[in-house]
Amino acid sequence: MGESLVEAVRQALLTVRDPVGGGNVVEAGLVQGLTARDGLVQFAIAVPRERAREMEPLRQAAERAAAGVPGVLSATVVLTAHRADPGPKPGGAGRAGPPAAGGHGHGHAPKAPAGQGAMLLPDVGKIVAVASGKGGVGKSTTAVNLAVALAAQGLRVGLLDADIYGPSLPQMLGAQEKPRTEGNTIIPLQRWGLKAMSIGFLVDAETPMIWRGPMVMGALEQMMGQVAWGALDIMVVDMPPGTGDAQLTMSQRVPLAGAVIVSTPQDVALLDARRGVRMFEKVNVPVLGVIENMSYYCCPKCGDRADIFGHGGARAEAAKMGVEFLGELPLKIDIRLLADAGTPIVAARPETEEAQAYRRIAARLWDKLQGAGATAPRFVVE
Ligand SMILES: Nc1ncnc2c1ncn2[C@@H]1O[C@H](COP(=O)(O)OP(=O)(O)OP(=O)(O)O)[C@@H](O)[C@H]1O
Ligand SMILES: [Mg+2]
Repeated sequence: MGESLVEAVRQALLTVRDPVGGGNVVEAGLVQGLTARDGLVQFAIAVPRERAREMEPLRQAAERAAAGVPGVLSATVVLTAHRADPGPKPGGAGRAGPPAAGGHGHGHAPKAPAGQGAMLLPDVGKIVAVASGKGGVGKSTTAVNLAVALAAQGLRVGLLDADIYGPSLPQMLGAQEKPRTEGNTIIPLQRWGLKAMSIGFLVDAETPMIWRGPMVMGALEQMMGQVAWGALDIMVVDMPPGTGDAQLTMSQRVPLAGAVIVSTPQDVALLDARRGVRMFEKVNVPVLGVIENMSYYCCPKCGDRADIFGHGGARAEAAKMGVEFLGELPLKIDIRLLADAGTPIVAARPETEEAQAYRRIAARLWDKLQGAGATAPRFVVE
């Protein structure tokens, strides 16, 4: 059903004119990452960088055309700056576009030349999303511990909580104070050797957070653009659960170097993990690997282990999808207690096997990022 809706939208877009080359936007290869799920349609239109500002009418026309297709409940279209190689590659591992200067190793992403759409986080070397299809599988716990482990490696690390509805960082980092501001700029909090930002630092934990889609994007953009992150080697982004708006927009508005998918071993979680992998592949963000969390139960008293959720499912699933399996973490009460206490296990108990597992995964991730040279496609903020 998703597929036929995609096809119907594609047909509808045949009527939308490419204002640059004539013809229509589909045949010109400008439509990218078209997805449809539960009636929600999302895609991007590639436009020449220098003409991005004039392309808003095109964006709206495409959105209207898509929204008019029977079965479409809502359509979201974003503009992306032109790339050399339009369209995602099969398998999603190949990066489109030229590896712009500074895209390798310790190089930083290029800054936006004046007059172009804002490029968020220009001084961050690599931006990695920690995501999952399903909620509650341990994304935040994983993101925090990986970030601490990367910082312990001597890297300059940022940790961004992209979960606007249910931010976890204030608790997991033990950070209750409000960040300082300087003029319009927010100074990120420093914890465990890294810089961190979360909407939860700004809004009281008790305040019910009711956000509409555009507000979520605004908040996310602010946390990227208006925070004094400084130069960073890597930013770890703790994503909200699911494969919705925030994921797509995040993957489009910042140059993501890749995504790490966290899953528990149960079948339902794996199914959602697969969806997560596909979603990132569709928007041309490489999936760096899969981590199995709560892989097996580790008894705190006797150290005995039990494979209560069917250990190894994520490894098998990763192999099936052709994605690297990065490692596994047991279900262990210390991981939760220390996270709840704001002292991530990698920082509080670096000698434990679990801390070692996080460090191993972090080291592998960093190595892998050094190999994955090219930067992600850059999306223009309308
Ligand atoms: N390996 C683990 N062992 C024990 N407890 C864990 C482990 N990983 C996560 N937890 C606990 O499970 C709960 C959910 O974890 P976490 O908040 O990291 O998940 P999440 O995927 O970020 O959730 P959400 O989708 O709501 O953002 C937390 O209480 C956390 O402390
Ligand atoms: Mg979370």
